Formats: sequence, structure tokens, C-alpha cells
Amino acid sequence: MRFKILLFFLCPLMFFCLRGVAGADVDLPEPQTTGGMGLFDALKKRSSVSGGDLVPAEVSLEDLSTILWAASGLNRGETGWTVPMAQGLAPYVSIHVVAADGVFLYDYRGHKLLEISKENVKGSVASQSFAAKASHILVFSTLPEELGKLRNPADAEEFACVLTGAMTQDVYLAAAALKLGARYLHSMKTDVVASALKLPEGSRPVALMILGK
Ligand SMILES: Cc1cc2nc3c(=O)[nH]c(=O)nc-3n(C[C@H](O)[C@H](O)[C@H](O)COP(=O)(O)O)c2cc1C
Repeated sequence: MRFKILLFFLCPLMFFCLRGVAGADVDLPEPQTTGGMGLFDALKKRSSVSGGDLVPAEVSLEDLSTILWAASGLNRGETGWTVPMAQGLAPYVSIHVVAADGVFLYDYRGHKLLEISKENVKGSVASQSFAAKASHILVFSTLPEELGKLRNPADAEEFACVLTGAMTQDVYLAAAALKLGARYLHSMKTDVVASALKLPEGSRPVALMILGK
């Protein structure tokens, strides 16, 4: 009986301790998946925000949720995404979110952000200083484990770049529809990015996208 009472008090305690280790993950609000600006209007509006025009304003969690869903969210059951993947594989490019309150990995399965660190590295991942003004910086990186499932390993680099292109174009269009500023950045401090994001062995950051207003 005493043992049962002890377990009753210990279990919730252990749960909270383990959550502390796993970090403060963020459940994203439901993304906008209907309505909004029409596709052709968004195509007409798509452009890169210039560094000089970026104002330090926060993009809401609702808008971030919609942008991430557009980039690589599930749109048909468990194995259908907003972007096409070779051989029907699961996404082989990851998306990290660099925000003022830390670095997060987008988990498309649960549509949530998994905390990687609480550090604010917005000012140090891009080569261009205006990126620090962005509300969020998205980082697109190769996922070696997923790419290893391709029938021909020699296709990995090319297919990862094609997927990054599809994801980033979806971000541009969603940003246009939400009246947010976005810009693709190739220039980045690769070593800083790899260490700040704790990228797995063999993973390569391909592109950054700044998001702002
Ligand atoms: C592959 C690629 C790499 C880019 N790299 C950078 C970059 O490092 N820095 C930057 O300020 N813009 C970069 N851009 C944004 C382009 O400069 C921008 O798309 C181009 O000037 C056209 O403007 P638009 O997107 O408004 O049509 C890049 C765009 C692409 C597609």
C-alpha cells in the first residue's frame, strides 16, 4: 500500500522532470488551410523583402504555423505533404526556426516545434546583418538518415536542393498571402548554424529564409 502511495506522488514528479530535459516544445495553433488570398494574387505579390525594408516586428505564432505548414506540413493523411518528395519518401530536408526565445525543429507529424535550445542566435547565423531584424529565421538542412533511403544515393544532393526550392517557394507564397516579408538567403555562417541547431552528423544547411514585416 505504501509503495502505491509513493508511486502516486513520484509518477507526476518524474513526468515533469523528464519534460524539463526534453525542453519547452511548442504546440502550434491550427494553420490556415483554406480561404485567404487566392493563389494567383499571391503569385503576383511574391517577392523578396529587402533588408532595409524589414522592420523589427513579431510574426504571430498563428502566421508562423501557417508558413511552416505551407513549407512541409501534412495535407493528406499521414504520408501526403504540401511539397513533393522523391519516391514518396518523408521529408528529407528539415526546417529549424530561429526565434528570439530559442531554436526549434519543426515536427510536421505533430505540427509542433521541438525546442533545441533557448539561445537567441538570430544575429549570428546569417552573413548579412539585416537578418538579425527578422522576426524568425527558417533554416533548411539536409536529413542524411532520410536521404539514405533514396534508391540511388548519388541523387541525394540534387533532390535535397529541389525540395528546398519547393519548400521555400511555398514559404514565399504563404508569406505573400499573409502580407509578411520573406527572403531566401544562401549566405550564412555554416559552422555557426550547424552548432546552434545541433544538426545531426552529415547534415548540411542549404538555405535560410528570413520572415518579418
Ligand atoms: C538560390 C538563391 C540564393 C539567394 N541568396 C541570397 C543571399 O545570400 N542574400 C540575399 O540577400 N538574397 C539572396 N537571394 C534572394 C535574391 O537576391 C532575390 O530572390 C532576387 O534578388 C530576386 O528578387 P525577388 O525574389 O524579389 O524576385 C537568393 C535567392 C535565391 C533563389
